[in-house]
Amino acid sequence: MDSNNLVEFKFLAEPTDVNFGGKVHGGMVMKWIDQASYACAAQWSKRYCVTVSANGIRFIRPILVGQMITVTARIVYTGKTSMHIYVVVRACNLKENKAVVTNRCFITFMALDDTGYHVKVPAYIPKSDEDKMLASVAMHAKDFALKLDSDFHNSLGWK
Ligand SMILES: CC(C)(COP(=O)(O)OP(=O)(O)OC[C@H]1O[C@@H](n2cnc3c(N)ncnc32)[C@H](O)[C@@H]1OP(=O)(O)O)[C@@H](O)C(=O)NCCC(=O)NCCS
Repeated sequence: MDSNNLVEFKFLAEPTDVNFGGKVHGGMVMKWIDQASYACAAQWSKRYCVTVSANGIRFIRPILVGQMITVTARIVYTGKTSMHIYVVVRACNLKENKAVVTNRCFITFMALDDTGYHVKVPAYIPKSDEDKMLASVAMHAKDFALKLDSDFHNSLGWK
């Protein structure tokens, strides 16, 4: 794997991250995903980047306060202006040293120049079979999201 396409954050889930049910807020997890993938997109493009879409976000298991969180974001596909990033969140109970996947999603960023205009991004070339599979699934997620966009627009009349 080209390490330039990957960013990993590690930190502890804090008491201030928790909701009324005692588990980490879904919104907090989405913030971690957005931050790690922003860093990944900015590292890849060497530009300021903005979020275009988050596709297929899943909340698989709850996260508990005190668990060590690892957020791994990797570029899996680049278009002309878009960077498609696969993000996996893992939570580790430190007493057992056992990590489980709690969340995953695809998130898309665009790079902007100093005037706020979108710019072409360096091409990412998937090499291994896993790289190619992730690129293909990211494109399925994008196609699904664009179809949903067109349903909102055409069928439901929502802008
Ligand atoms: C993001 C933004 C600049 C995109 O504007 P735009 O030029 O109309 O975007 P487009 O529809 O042409 O799509 C741009 C790229 O994203 C891709 N894209 C669009 N919708 C997508 C989706 N749902 N999933 C994945 N990729 C998507 C397009 O295929 C295109 O990629 P390409 O150039 O590599 O082919 C604009 O919508 C915006 O400013 N949104 C607000 C951003 C924001 O506030 N983010 C949160 C804070 S950072």
